[in-house]
Amino acid sequence: MKNKALCQLPPMGWNSWNTFTENINEELILETVDVLKKEGFLEKGYEYIVIDDCWSEMDRDENGRLVPDPVKFPHGMKAVADAVHARGFKFGMYSCCGTRTCAGYPGSFEHEFEDARQFAEWGVDYLKYDNCFKVQHMDDETLYRRMHLALANSGRDIVFSACQWGTENVHEWIRTSGAHLFRSTEDINDSWFSIRDIALSQLDKMAYSGPGCHNDMDMLVAGMYGKGGNEYISAGGCSDEEYRTHFALWAMMNSPLMIGCDVRRINQTTKDLLLNEDLIAINQDPEYRAPFRVRCTSNGPEAFVLVKFLSGGETALGLFNFGDVPATVAVDFWDLGLPLSSEYSLRLYDCLNRTDAGMKKEFLKETVAAHGCRIYRCALTKTK
Ligand code: GLA
Repeated sequence: MKNKALCQLPPMGWNSWNTFTENINEELILETVDVLKKEGFLEKGYEYIVIDDCWSEMDRDENGRLVPDPVKFPHGMKAVADAVHARGFKFGMYSCCGTRTCAGYPGSFEHEFEDARQFAEWGVDYLKYDNCFKVQHMDDETLYRRMHLALANSGRDIVFSACQWGTENVHEWIRTSGAHLFRSTEDINDSWFSIRDIALSQLDKMAYSGPGCHNDMDMLVAGMYGKGGNEYISAGGCSDEEYRTHFALWAMMNSPLMIGCDVRRINQTTKDLLLNEDLIAINQDPEYRAPFRVRCTSNGPEAFVLVKFLSGGETALGLFNFGDVPATVAVDFWDLGLPLSSEYSLRLYDCLNRTDAGMKKEFLKETVAAHGCRIYRCALTKTK
C-alpha cells in the first residue's frame, strides 16, 4: 500500500442511508451487491458498497471494541466484507468523529487508532466519518486529521470520506487533513428544493475539488420517488426530469456518485440514468477540470450554463433551468474561449438523449423544461 495515491477520481457506489436508515442487515447488503453486479453497475464504475450508521451495538465491548449488531450482521463485518469483495466490489463502513454517531451509536472519538485497525482487520476499503456529538474543545480540522493518520497507518488502503457538512470553511482546509472526499452541505432529501439548494450552494466552490479530494454533494436521491428511510429524507420525491437534472449536476460538478435508492426495485428510467456512460465519463474525466459557470445576459435569473473542459480537447456543456416554467437558455461560444476568428464550430453530442446534435456556430440557444437541463459533449470542428 505504499506510495499509491488513493481515490484520484470521484468515488462511485451505493450507500444504505437514504433508503434504509437503521433498517440494514447482511441480507440487504448482499442482495444489493448482487443486483448491482447483475445490472452492470460495477462495470460502469459503481464499486463502493457503504454501510452507513446503525450497524453496531449501542455500546463497545469490555475491551473498548465496536461490536456489530448480532441480529443485523450475525456473521460479523469481516464476513460481509469478504462476500462484497468476492463479488468484485469494495466495502465501506461508517463512524463519527464525536463520542456518538448521529443516530446515537458509539463514535470514534479517542478510539480513532483502535477503530481504524479494526476496520482494516475487517477488510474495509472506505470509511464515511460523520460530524455529530463532538467535544466542545476541538475543531473539525484536528478531529479529521486524527482519523486520517489512524487510517493511513492501519495497514490497509482505506478511502477517507469526511462527512463534515460544509461548516468551518471546510473546502479551504480539508485537503490538508488527508480526507479523500468531504461532504460540503447538510443532508440531502428527496425533493427538488434540496437538489437545487445543494447545487447552488456549491457553484462557487467547484475549483476546491480536485484529484484525491472531492467535494461530496451527498448521496444521490435519483430513483427514490419519495421512499426515503425517514420523513426528512422522503420529502415528497421528485419527477424523472428533476432526477435527470440532479444526476447531470452531480456528474458535471465532480461530486462522488453514490446511489441511494433501493436498487432491488429500480425501474428502467432510473437504471438508464444512473448507467448513462456519457454522464459518467464527464464525472470521471481523467483531466479532472472544475466546471465554470457562464452567464449570458439574455438568460433569466434561474437559468445558467456550466462548462467543463474534458481531456482530448473536448468540452462538456450543461444548460440548466432551475425555474418553474420552461425557459430559453443560451450560451455564446465566445465565453467558452472560442472566438469567431478561430473559424471553428462545435459538433454537439446530446448526452441525455444519446444522439448526435449537429454543428453549432457562435452560440447555442435551447428551450429547457422547468427544473430541466441539456447536457452536451462538444468537439471543435472547422467551419466549412
Ligand atoms: C448524518 C449524515 C448522513 C447520515 C446520517 C446517519 O446526518 O450527514 O449522511 O450518515 O448522519 O445518522
